[in-house]
Amino acid sequence: MQHDGVAARGAVDTAPFVLPQPERLALPDGAVQVWRLDDAQVNPACARLAHTLAPDERARALAYRHARHCNGYVARRGLLRWLVGGYLHCQPEALRLTVSPFGQPVLQWPQAGLAFSVSHTDGLALLAFARDCRLGVDVERRAGDVNVAAVPGFGRGIFSAQEAQVLARAPPAAADALLGIWTRKEALLKALGTGLSADPTAYTTEDDWRRGAGHWRASRDGIAMSGWTCLDLDAGAGFSAALAVSLPEASVTWHRC
Ligand SMILES: CC(C)(COP(=O)(O)OP(=O)(O)OC[C@H]1O[C@@H](n2cnc3c(N)ncnc32)[C@H](O)[C@@H]1OP(=O)(O)O)[C@@H](O)C(=O)NCCC(=O)NCCS
Repeated sequence: MQHDGVAARGAVDTAPFVLPQPERLALPDGAVQVWRLDDAQVNPACARLAHTLAPDERARALAYRHARHCNGYVARRGLLRWLVGGYLHCQPEALRLTVSPFGQPVLQWPQAGLAFSVSHTDGLALLAFARDCRLGVDVERRAGDVNVAAVPGFGRGIFSAQEAQVLARAPPAAADALLGIWTRKEALLKALGTGLSADPTAYTTEDDWRRGAGHWRASRDGIAMSGWTCLDLDAGAGFSAALAVSLPEASVTWHRC
C-alpha cells in the first residue's frame, strides 16, 4: 500500500482500527487522555493516516531502513495529527509541528495550549493529551528477568543516588523495579521537555503512598516538585509505563481506536 511515497507494507497481523470521530473528541480541563496504539493496528493506521503527514515527516518516515519502523512512525504521527486536529477542531494535515532543540515535538499552529506526549516500544505506542500543562508519558517493554546489577552503566547517568539505593535493595531479578524508575524518569523528563539531555540523576522519583498505589512523586536536587500528578500506568502485561503531568489532581483515562 503506497501513500505519497510512504509505504505501509509487510505481512503482519492486523487488529480492528476505527478512528474516533473528530467532533466527538473532547478534552476537559484537568483531564489526561491516554490513547494506545497496538502494533497490530499500525498497518491500518498507516493506510488511513499517511496522507496527513507533512513533507518533513514523510522524509523522516522514508529514512527508516526497516518498513516496520517506517510504518510505526507514520501510524504514530498520523494518529497524533488526527487526535490533535479533533481536540482543536482543525484538519490534521493543517497542523504545523516542529521540533525543539531537545527533540520534543512542538505544535506551532494552532497555539491552543494543548500538551501532548508520545512514547513507543516494541508492541505498543502511547499518546497522551491534556490542556495547559506539561505532560510526559513513557512506555517500555518488560524484557523478562534481568540482573539489575549486570546492566551496563547501572546506576550511572540515569538514576539518582536514592534511586540507586532502592534498586540495590531489590532482589537480583529486579527488572520491574529498574523499568519502573526508568519509565517514571523518562515521563518526567519528557514533560519537562529536556529528555535525557538534562541531568537525570538530579531528579528522584519515589512511591507516593499518601496518594495511593500507583502514585509517585518527584523531586529535583532534594526539593519536591509540587503540583504534579505522577502515575504508573497499567499498559498491560509485558509493559511498564508512567505518566507525569503538571496538574495537581489530574484524572487519567484510557482510549483506543
Ligand atoms: C525523549 C527520550 C527520553 C525518549 O526516549 P525513548 O524511550 O527512546 O523513546 P520514546 O518512544 O519513549 O519517546 C520518543 C518520543 O519522545 C518525544 N520526544 C523526543 N524528545 C523529547 C523531549 N526532549 N521532550 C519531550 N518529548 C520528546 C518524541 O515525540 C518522540 O517520538 P517521535 O520520535 O515519534 O516523534 C530520549 O529520546 C531523549 O532524551 N531525547 C532527547 C535527546 C536530545 O537532547 N536530542 C537533541 C537532538 S534532537
